[in-house]
Amino acid sequence: MDLAERLYRPFFSTVLVRLDPETAHHLAMLVIRALGASPAIARIVRRRTVAGATRVDAMGIRFPTPFGLAAGFDKNAIGVRGLGALGFGHVEIGTVTAVPQPGNPRPRLFRLPADGALINRMGFNNEGAAVVAARLAAFRRQGALPVVGVNIGKSRVVAVEDAIDDYRTSARLLAPHADYLVVNVSSPNTPGLRGLQELDRLEPLLAAVHEEARATPLLVKIAPDLEDDAIRRIADLVVRLGLAGVVATNTTISRDGLATPAGDVAAMGDGGLSGAPLKARSLEVLRVLRAALPADRCLISVGGVASADDVRERLALGADLVQGYTGFLYRGPGWARDLALVG
Ligand code: FNR
Repeated sequence: MDLAERLYRPFFSTVLVRLDPETAHHLAMLVIRALGASPAIARIVRRRTVAGATRVDAMGIRFPTPFGLAAGFDKNAIGVRGLGALGFGHVEIGTVTAVPQPGNPRPRLFRLPADGALINRMGFNNEGAAVVAARLAAFRRQGALPVVGVNIGKSRVVAVEDAIDDYRTSARLLAPHADYLVVNVSSPNTPGLRGLQELDRLEPLLAAVHEEARATPLLVKIAPDLEDDAIRRIADLVVRLGLAGVVATNTTISRDGLATPAGDVAAMGDGGLSGAPLKARSLEVLRVLRAALPADRCLISVGGVASADDVRERLALGADLVQGYTGFLYRGPGWARDLALVG
C-alpha cells in the first residue's frame, strides 16, 4: 500500500462512506479539477506520475500507459487534465448525448463494500454534445491532456427508431475533439438502448456514426450480458465496417454471487453492477473477443480491474488497453499511478 492509499483508506472509511456516493463524487471532482487548474503544473505532475510506465501504440495513437479511466466518471469532460495528472493514460469522457439531460432521479448510485462493487442507474446525466465539445476544444488549446476518448449514447427523449440521427449529431460535434470515439449501446439505464446491440440495428447505426467520425477511430462498447455468439457477430461486424475496435464491458444487470444481503441489493433497485463481481465475465468476454478479432483491431478491456496484476493479466490475454472505474472509488487517488506501472 503506498502513501496515497494509506491516507485515502481512513478518509474513505470515516468520511466518504458517510456521504451519499454522488456527493462524494462531486467532492472528488472538485479536488481533481483543482489539480488540473494550471496546465503547466498538471503537465509536470503528469510527467512524474507516469514516468517509467510502458507506452502503448493503438489505433494510431500513442498512449502514455495502457491503463485509463472508463466512461461515466467524467461525463462532461471537466476533470480530464487533473485525471491525467493522477496517472490515467487515457480518460474516456461521457456518456454524452446530443440533447442535454438530467438523468434519473436520485438516489441512483449505491455502494456494495462487501463486494467491492457499485450499482448505478445514473441514466446519462450530462450537459449535451455541444457544451462538451466546446469544453474539449478549450482544453485542447491549453494542452497537458491525457489521451481523451469520447463515449456517445442515445438521448432519452429520442425514440429508439430515431437513434441513428441522434448519435450522428453527437459524433459530428464531438469527433473533431476526440482522440477516439465510442458508440455506447450497452448501458442498462436507458430504455431500449441495449436492443441496439442486435445486428440488424447495430450495423446501420455504426455505419452512420463511422461516416460522421471521419478519421477519428471508432469503437463500440458492449454489455457483458450478451451471449458469446452475439459477441462474435459484433466482432465480425467491426471488421466488416472497418471500425477501430471494441470496449468490453459495460456494467451487468446480473446480481449473481454477491456477498451483500439479497434484501439490501433488492432495495437498491435497477441498475448496472460494476466492480469485482464483473471480473470473471469481463475476462471471458476478452477471451472470446480476442479470438474473434484480428490483432490490428483494438480491444479495450474493462470490468472488475483492481490491481496492477489485473492489468497485466488483461494485457497477457490480448487486450491493447485496460480501463477501470469502480476501483478508483475504493482505492483512491494513487490507484491510477499504481496501475500505470505495469511494465
Ligand atoms: C459507469 N459506466 C458507464 N459506461 C458508459 O459507457 N457510459 C456511462 O455513462 C457510464 N456511467 C457509469 C457510471 C457509474 C457510476 C459506473 C460505476 C459505471 C460503466 C463503466 O465505464 C465500466 O464499463 C464499468 O463500470 C465496469 O468497470 P469497473 O467499474 O468494474 O472497473
